[in-house]
Amino acid sequence: MGVHAELKLVEHDKDGVDLSFRTDVLRGLAERQKAIPARWFYDLTGSELFEDITRLPEYYPTRVETRLLEAYGAEIARLVGPHRAVVEFGSGSSVKTPLLLREINPAAYLPLDISGEFLRQSCQELAAKFPELPIIPVEANFMRAVELPASVRHLGMLGFFPGSTIGNMVPPTAVDLLRSMRDTLGDGSQLLIGIDRVKDIGRLIAAYDDSQGITARFNLNLIDRINRELDGDIPRKRFRHMARWNDIWSRIEMHLEALEDTAFTVAGRDFFMRRGETIHTENSHKYTPNQARLLLQAGGWTPAWQWTDAAEDFLIVLADASEFRSAP
Ligand code: AVI
Repeated sequence: MGVHAELKLVEHDKDGVDLSFRTDVLRGLAERQKAIPARWFYDLTGSELFEDITRLPEYYPTRVETRLLEAYGAEIARLVGPHRAVVEFGSGSSVKTPLLLREINPAAYLPLDISGEFLRQSCQELAAKFPELPIIPVEANFMRAVELPASVRHLGMLGFFPGSTIGNMVPPTAVDLLRSMRDTLGDGSQLLIGIDRVKDIGRLIAAYDDSQGITARFNLNLIDRINRELDGDIPRKRFRHMARWNDIWSRIEMHLEALEDTAFTVAGRDFFMRRGETIHTENSHKYTPNQARLLLQAGGWTPAWQWTDAAEDFLIVLADASEFRSAP
């Protein structure tokens, strides 16, 4: 068993540059409110820094979701049943993924991730823990429907999307993603998804602007990645990490704020930012349980079961792929 040959569905040019990274960065820096999609945080360093974030005292989501999986894992296993193919949207965390796999006894595990390097590393670690389990890494952008290998298509599918990563998308994109997942997984599939809840704003800000400055390094690492991979010269020292609550959109926003007027080039293009101007790098939407259920329904999933903690910080939902409806 162990780790199978990797399926690669990401396009690179002849120098190994991810073409959609360049397109997203150049397009985003040319906008009036500069913005770069959050998924580009996750090169190897970014992925490692994110793992550090998950252990911070202020960053509650990982801890609470893990506790929920521990407390309700057996119940989830009963509802899901054994011998499913677990398709994880993302590389898999070192704690939550083994917890789920141990509980539900699946027939195969397929992590889908855009970062090939991190994918390979996490698959090796998982293979050591589950030597009997077929692990099939798929390097792909899961924002679009992904064709899964023929060897698993006969199995019942369980999508796993923990960590409230769905919150990193604006609602229309979140709905598109849920629909893509529905297409990837097919009829009769289920989705186990973690969603962060609306709560006290002070706690939310602290979770995204921690006292050790790890989240700041995570945000600023995007500048290093652009400079390295897209031949940029953005002066990292002239930027600072900023996290703020946007009440209209019900989300935490992360920005990189220019500390002084700054000119730079990326991939041969010139850019200029005034002092105080920002590059918007991440949204982290927070949902009430009702809003979360509505989002899932809009994305083609019917919520069936849900679990939350006593402090009402985090929500896990198990949803069924909705059937086609001709009625309104
Ligand atoms: C991956 N994602 C759900 C994290 C979040 O909470 O939005 C990413 C993150 N950004 C800053 N801290 C954590």
